[in-house]
Amino acid sequence: MKRTILLLALVLSPALASAAGAPVKLDQVKIDLGDQKSLQNGARIFVNYCLSCHSAAYMRYNRMGKDLGISEELVKENLLFAADKVGDLMKAVMPAEDAKAVFGVVPPDLTVISRSRGPNWLYTYMRAFYRDDKSYSGWNNTVFPHVAMPHVLYEWQGQQRAVFDKDGKFEKFEVERPGSMSTKDYDAAMRDLTNFLVYLGEPAKLERYRLGVWVILFLLVLLVFAYLLKKEYWKDVH
Ligand code: HEC
Repeated sequence: MKRTILLLALVLSPALASAAGAPVKLDQVKIDLGDQKSLQNGARIFVNYCLSCHSAAYMRYNRMGKDLGISEELVKENLLFAADKVGDLMKAVMPAEDAKAVFGVVPPDLTVISRSRGPNWLYTYMRAFYRDDKSYSGWNNTVFPHVAMPHVLYEWQGQQRAVFDKDGKFEKFEVERPGSMSTKDYDAAMRDLTNFLVYLGEPAKLERYRLGVWVILFLLVLLVFAYLLKKEYWKDVH
């Protein structure tokens, strides 16, 4: 039941979000599930900075390790903060009731967020936090206005101010305080994180890509034989 509600909420949320306020132009992100380094970096960021509040409760640590080419030892040493065993599901550290008390909403499970929001939305969202003294957390977001999530990566990105025109339409960001990363490096890190979220939404995609190459090769070989067979059959007809 809980799962149904969650899925329903995930499916409905884009419609609700776009109903509120003018939609912001989304930046394009290049997704490459063949880029293992990028996926590994995305996994590292996700486990370190997102799992404290969000879960990815349909994924197990060891499955992720296997898919992304990370050994069980490395998973245990570097990625297992929120669980005891590599076979555990990726649950959030913060209990849902506590999160509700602090943020007013329970941070949604992120397993299939890339499928409901889309990669470009996620990539833009993670780069669109700005200071807003009127908001409870001190942060706001142009892609998700009045979001209850604080900018958890602000030390990396720094602090930016949003400039709106007189109709309240978003124009641009201005840097108020630079972070520890350059804009280029922060964008690259957010691309890795988005890449990882896309993998998380459909882990079988990696396997399908690998399998796909062999299927095409098989079909090509079959083509040669089919052609030879055809020639053989028609030999007597001509
Ligand atoms: C301090 C707790 C906290 C952390 C850490 C955190 N989030 Fe969130 N996040 C929230 C809350 C609370 C919401 C719900 C916001 C709302 O509905 O207003 C949210 C919402 C989101 C959403 C929007 C979901 C939707 O409704 O479509 C995304 C995407 C997201 N978070 C991604 C991330 C990622 C990626 C990270 C790691 C870099 C992260 N969050 C870290 C608290 C957190």
